[in-house]
Amino acid sequence: MNTMNPEINLSKEAPLEEPERQYYYIEKAKKYVKEQMEKLGRQLTFCVVTFGCQMNARDSEKLTGVLRQIGYTEESNEEKADFVIYNTCTVRENANMRVYGRLGQLNRIKRRKPYMMIALCGCMMQEPEVVEKLKKSYRFVDIIFGTHNIYKFAELIATRFESERMVIDIWKDTDKIVENLPSERKFPFKSGVNIMFGCNNFCSYCIVPYVRGRERSRDKEAIIAEIKRLVADGVVEVMLLGQNVNSYGKTLEEPISFAELLKEVEKIEGLERIRFMTSHPKDLSDELIEVMKDSKKICKHLHLPVQSGSSRILEKMNRRYTKEQYLELVRKIREAVPDISLTTDIIVGFPGETEEDFLETMDIVEKVRYDSAFTFIYSKRTGTPAAVMEEQVPQEIVKDRFDRLLKRVQEISSEVCAVHEGTTQTVLVESVNDHDETLLTGRLSNNLLVHFPGDAGLIGSFADVRLDECKGFYYLGTMV
Ligand code: 5AD
Ligand code: SF4
Repeated sequence: MNTMNPEINLSKEAPLEEPERQYYYIEKAKKYVKEQMEKLGRQLTFCVVTFGCQMNARDSEKLTGVLRQIGYTEESNEEKADFVIYNTCTVRENANMRVYGRLGQLNRIKRRKPYMMIALCGCMMQEPEVVEKLKKSYRFVDIIFGTHNIYKFAELIATRFESERMVIDIWKDTDKIVENLPSERKFPFKSGVNIMFGCNNFCSYCIVPYVRGRERSRDKEAIIAEIKRLVADGVVEVMLLGQNVNSYGKTLEEPISFAELLKEVEKIEGLERIRFMTSHPKDLSDELIEVMKDSKKICKHLHLPVQSGSSRILEKMNRRYTKEQYLELVRKIREAVPDISLTTDIIVGFPGETEEDFLETMDIVEKVRYDSAFTFIYSKRTGTPAAVMEEQVPQEIVKDRFDRLLKRVQEISSEVCAVHEGTTQTVLVESVNDHDETLLTGRLSNNLLVHFPGDAGLIGSFADVRLDECKGFYYLGTMV
């Protein structure tokens, strides 16, 4: 975590440069928080609620870092917290509905606790209709900001303390990446690391390119320096994050490939495991497959969203590969890394999907035999090309297909998982089991979990565990 500059002088104007400007506002907000704590005669607490993907989870760690620095302490129950932040997702419609529902709840609490602060950020805030609705019907919200200016969180908090009004700051897009801001980690031993932001793919169903903007890669030096700092601070596993990591570096002044970046990350001493997400099949290079094959640190897991098994639908989705190309890619990967675990995302009910198209999806699932698959019902997102396509598939049909797919995906997944039964594998011990305190939970290189008896002192270290029994999508084991 970055430390604050003790020389920040609040009687001077805010610096214009970043990140100095934010450190100035952190000091300022700290003063307001302290005043309020003195008035109330107690500590103030915060709760960050994260919806959606790993990118949002990482962003939430950044929000947490700022809140801690300005003097708030963490409270896991949002109903008790003095500052509640929803870091939202808008990939599917139901994510939005959940936010509105929970906001209603918060409003009731805030009526009793007027000094309470509510902030909203993340992908949903990048949709103009959402902000309009909030301005009209959710006046009790204090701060609204988007995905491009999350680094300004401290400044927005200070601004809210100084004004009586809702603070709204949404940018349409940005080419800026601000480095060296405070950040917290949920786990001391593993961390997400952003390597790029945004997406240029415009899959026809997807809202991400509109709410996360154009692709921007971080400089290699900044990424390596961050990972080295993390390792010095006890991290042994990193997850390199981007909407499409396979196109990392293409837009940098000195272009570099994702495979080359991985080779550099591999060299970092003390780092034991490397994961990354998400890969787009169309950009997954032979060079990357080679690097994965030769690596000692890259985990044996690849998340490779297929979305559909029908080449006709894939074209309408603007995915830029066919079923055959995807299967060929899977063949090449498995040839190079035979024991790799493959996972995927699948959408059911894309506009125009016929029973025949759906059977192609069932077929690709049969052929690839995924270790696990996230299955989604197509959700119409206003502003995307697919939203105005004709032939939206009736709900009952989609539901029926979804159930059939899910059943098969789960059957295959438990069969695939059972293959490792009886083997001994190295796991990173992550936590004490939620349901049974005598058990620890460890993660295999292939991302599966195993629960085994052990002492909590092992958390954060590696252990060899025999996988005694497969329970469908996890194992019970014994340390050897
Ligand atoms: N409807 C349903 N699922 C979607 N996804 C993205 N957009 C939509 C949508 N409009 C899914 C994709 C993607 C995952 C993160 O979310 O499968 O890979
Ligand atoms: Fe959305 Fe496609 Fe970009 Fe993934 S690659 S974020 S599905 S547009």
